[in-house]
Amino acid sequence: MIASIPLQPPVQTAAGTFAADVLEGLTRPGQKTLPSSWLYDDVGSALFEVITLLPEYGLTRADAALLRGAAGAVAEMAGQPARIVEFGSGSGSKTRCILEAALASRPVEYAPIDISRAALENCASNLRGLPGLTVRPVEACYLSGLAETLAGRGTDDRTLLLFLGSTIGNFSPDQAATFLRSARQQMRPGDSLLLGADLVKPREQLLAAYDDPLGVTAAFNLNLLARINRELGGEFQPGRFAHEARFDQQHSRIEMHLRARVAQKVWIEGLHRIVSFEAGETIWTESSYKFLTSDIAEIGAEAGWTIAQQWVDHEWGFAETLFSA
Ligand code: AVI
Repeated sequence: MIASIPLQPPVQTAAGTFAADVLEGLTRPGQKTLPSSWLYDDVGSALFEVITLLPEYGLTRADAALLRGAAGAVAEMAGQPARIVEFGSGSGSKTRCILEAALASRPVEYAPIDISRAALENCASNLRGLPGLTVRPVEACYLSGLAETLAGRGTDDRTLLLFLGSTIGNFSPDQAATFLRSARQQMRPGDSLLLGADLVKPREQLLAAYDDPLGVTAAFNLNLLARINRELGGEFQPGRFAHEARFDQQHSRIEMHLRARVAQKVWIEGLHRIVSFEAGETIWTESSYKFLTSDIAEIGAEAGWTIAQQWVDHEWGFAETLFSA
């Protein structure tokens, strides 16, 4: 049976937070920045779905292949969970095999947590029809959504938390550590976490994945300027910026930037501000950290999780790690 409950209102209105982040990120001294979470409006999310199909971007295919192979073992090692909670809902396609494996032995409640109502609705409709599944989407930030989902849980039902697709790599190391620790504090002994993380690979392979020849990733990045125009009355001309992907070996991360092709001043009506750019100056829009398999075990352990099993796709370089609380 599928029961879709009404979605909760978001904690903050997206527009207010977007304006505050744009103001802070584009007017601070030194390196201009914009948080990567703002890449995902409807246009950005659609472009990201296309990125996952590109031959140069093997991350999502590796993640999905590993999940298909490991689903049965994950469900068993997670103690046949009664509840599966997922940070970020995506389309639900990768999660489906984990849900099917868990449903083989008992009914399951599935709670995708996302700030995008459209993503949640899409995910819920794609999973409709799985016998024994109840879908309870939560429109919220990840950690507050987790608290809401776990409030009033039964005494001995187990929860499996999914954090797939290497979204953990879009957090700074400090943010990742704090996030995994906070998630751990909300879980009980017997609960589990399945964490997907992209591995370190040759620079050329990474640069091709984040600067593809069709320009889809460039469009994904430049859409952030178009979004400022749409939502905040900005007057960016996206053609005056270039997408740039860099690999920072020391920090083991890909960085996405938007580089001003020429010096320019841009009016943003919603902020009542002009933002000035020198020629060549960049806005840093995303970091995507790449891990060693041992890093992942360490990050989890430092946050209070115990590693149970790790599955590795050596062809692309991706790991699925199951932790227990
Ligand atoms: C969602 N996240 C894991 C993607 C990544 O690879 O860091 C986002 C992305 N950015 C550019 N291409 C894909």
